Amino acid sequence: MPPHVTEIAADVFRISTFHPDFGIQFNQFLIADDEPFLMHTGMKKMFSTTLEGVSSILDPAKLRWIGFSHFESDECGALNEWLKSAPPAQAVCSFVGAIVMVNDFADRPARALVDNEVIQTGRHRLQFLATPHVPHCWDAGLFFETVERILLCSDLFFQPGDPRPLEETSVLGRARESIIQNLTGPMAHDMPYTAYTDATLRRLADLNPRPSPSCMVLHSKETAARKFSNWQP
Ligand SMILES: [Fe+2]
Ligand SMILES: [Fe+2]
Repeated sequence: MPPHVTEIAADVFRISTFHPDFGIQFNQFLIADDEPFLMHTGMKKMFSTTLEGVSSILDPAKLRWIGFSHFESDECGALNEWLKSAPPAQAVCSFVGAIVMVNDFADRPARALVDNEVIQTGRHRLQFLATPHVPHCWDAGLFFETVERILLCSDLFFQPGDPRPLEETSVLGRARESIIQNLTGPMAHDMPYTAYTDATLRRLADLNPRPSPSCMVLHSKETAARKFSNWQP
């Protein structure tokens, strides 16, 4: 399972590994800057693959920030492996994530971020968005890279298979199909629709992120509102 590395915007790289057993990709996003930022550690058992991907871009020992949306193995399972490999590295996640899970699980404490807190990595600027239960989990949060206008959105708008790194058309249709398919089966109901979902999605759309790969592609807030107004799992 070799990682596929693509520069999707200036100094923003997607490290993507398709896992045939799961039939999905596991994606990490690396922002190569003065203080390199990695979004998602990948699973512990896939650490060597993720490390290979990061090493093809920069010295992994120089990693400074490790961000993730929520506490799941593919998001942060290899956190301790990264903390060992990169002495300056610190996890950054929601306050809930840090207090409830990460600070017990991880070998070094995380920096707990409040809504809208910003991490300046050099040229790039990452705005943390607390988004409880979006895409899922109480501790969920997302990062918006404000210079290239890329939303690092974790499982939101998930697509199965091995999608291309860059799409020229909206991914919303395929993401919606995937949500509907996931309403049944042993992994059912991964995407909750809560009292907060609509307002959170509208807030994300208002950021006006530019079209990007496995990240959210919302061309307008009208599109977001229309697509999700019918979504009632
Ligand atoms: Fe996950
Ligand atoms: Fe998840």
